Amino acid sequence: MTPSDELAVAIIGAGSIGTRHYSNLEFIPGNRVVAVCDADDAQASKLASRAGAQTYPSVDAMFDAESGLDAVLICVPPGIRRQVFERAAERDVAVFCEKPPADSLEHAQAVARIVRDSGILCMAGFNMRYLPPVQRMRELIAGRTINLALCTYLSAPALTGGFRPWFFEKARSGGPLLDQAIHYVDLMRYFVGEITSVHAFGSNVARPKGPGFTIEDTAVSTIQFESGAVGHHVHSWATPWGYTKFELNGPDFHLALEPAGDTPGVFGTIGDPKGEGTVVHDAFPRAASLGRDGSRKPDAPLDAPPDFMHYQEMVTFLDAVRTGDTSGILSTYADGMRTLAVVLAMNRSIESGQVEPVVVPAV
Ligand SMILES: NC(=O)c1ccc[n+]([C@@H]2O[C@H](COP(=O)([O-])OP(=O)(O)OC[C@H]3O[C@@H](n4cnc5c(N)ncnc54)[C@H](O)[C@@H]3O)[C@@H](O)[C@H]2O)c1
Repeated sequence: MTPSDELAVAIIGAGSIGTRHYSNLEFIPGNRVVAVCDADDAQASKLASRAGAQTYPSVDAMFDAESGLDAVLICVPPGIRRQVFERAAERDVAVFCEKPPADSLEHAQAVARIVRDSGILCMAGFNMRYLPPVQRMRELIAGRTINLALCTYLSAPALTGGFRPWFFEKARSGGPLLDQAIHYVDLMRYFVGEITSVHAFGSNVARPKGPGFTIEDTAVSTIQFESGAVGHHVHSWATPWGYTKFELNGPDFHLALEPAGDTPGVFGTIGDPKGEGTVVHDAFPRAASLGRDGSRKPDAPLDAPPDFMHYQEMVTFLDAVRTGDTSGILSTYADGMRTLAVVLAMNRSIESGQVEPVVVPAV
């Protein structure tokens, strides 16, 4: 801890999510961002000037110069994870690692071993697990049989832009499944349990592959759970006027989850299928304070956290670092690696055309 008893935090990657996390860190007492590391000096300086922090062009330069760090946030593309963990483990610095946990199973396995062997505190950035409607869904489904999980996420960045170019390069981002569907696949695992195999298809009808665009613009995946339940995930970056829908179904319930946005909550029916059932309408306060450009919406309540979607996970992480009590962490690195294994199996299935088993590396 710093002399003032504030946690000394470094942000690695001063892009979209690094900046959003910074807005929440500013809002949460008891921490100070002392270092910002980004390969792009302009990006680093922009964020560091807000924080009054030192800038660094590389992870090594930062760890060489900063001896008093309590925690680092990894907010860089998924190919950059292991070197941060190696340096953090040498110094017993806690790590918050954005999703995806890594860009390959080998990479994730190496990181998971560093975490295990060093015993450093680590949390994977599966922020949705920490959202109130997600926790409410967990309460409502406790003890119930789930036979079908359905998720559809339709958006249009492949047609409209709005994402940085690396997101459209499969070798760097892993495409829509590794980069974004991973959130919803993680929720499926969180609610329904382990996934054993998948069959996925990709499409480039809307935007053909070419230089600078090597991802599928749309993908559909069928999912087999260990419990015997089945599921389906549809993900598109090429559907304007899109929407998101996440549903769980069982013999005695149907529940739809709105994790955030304008109408967060859990909605549906629970009861005897031959009877009328009880209507569930558990709405939570409107969640979005930041607009798409990262600036605060004019109508956002002043006491609302700047970035609600990522607020509770950051509070949880900082509390764990401060107290050493990790019981609030709902997304360990090892668990995140299991979700990673599912989306990598989906990407493999797109290539092979076959049903692919979910292979989780031993740690
Ligand atoms: N949990 C969420 O909801 C969420 C949301 C957005 C992004 N993310 C994840 O966060 C990560 C970053 O995404 P983003 O949208 O912020 O991307 P971004 O492109 O906006 O920012 C990434 C930053 O990393 C910097 N960078 C790249 N390589 C670097 C290196 N070797 N050393 C130092 N800096 C380097 C870039 O210059 C850039 O400023 C990705 O893994 C993404 O999937 C998570």
